[in-house]
Amino acid sequence: MIKVLFVCLGNICRSPLAEGIFAEKIRKMDLEKQISCDSAGTEGYHIGSMPDPRSRKVAEMNGILLAHRSQKLQVGDFKNFDYILAMDKHNLHSIRTMQAKTASKSEVMLVRDFDPKAKGADLADPYAGNSADFEECYAILEPCLDNFISFLLKKHHLETV
Ligand code: 4NP
Repeated sequence: MIKVLFVCLGNICRSPLAEGIFAEKIRKMDLEKQISCDSAGTEGYHIGSMPDPRSRKVAEMNGILLAHRSQKLQVGDFKNFDYILAMDKHNLHSIRTMQAKTASKSEVMLVRDFDPKAKGADLADPYAGNSADFEECYAILEPCLDNFISFLLKKHHLETV
């Protein structure tokens, strides 16, 4: 099983949205036995909380139900996950700092390393923004996650239906 973890700061806006979009794509491609996903935050401000209502709304507008509960990134995640995808460079720095202190099998990348239009850019934190900022997050994530899945399929020689 290839295990993917999406990480942002609070694990209520961006990373649960990325997880929900990714999980739906994996389900539609009948890859659930080969690829699994989860999400976490580098901070524990919102542990146990549902995703932000604005993330839930944009997901629901696209037929996706977000049922995640916020959790904080743990040292054990570096043993468990094959890929850890950060939403921005601030998250990436926090993840790499933690990774340096523990045994890790995880490949750590930015989600927008897979952005066809802006490779390596930050996915801006929409928490202080409005619903349009959350819709933009969705629109940015979607092609990134398509490309990330293509990368996984190629790298791990997976077949799709
Ligand atoms: P996220 O957004 O990292 O995309 O979940 C945020 C959520 C909460 C906070 C910051 C960013 N906060 O400061 O509480």
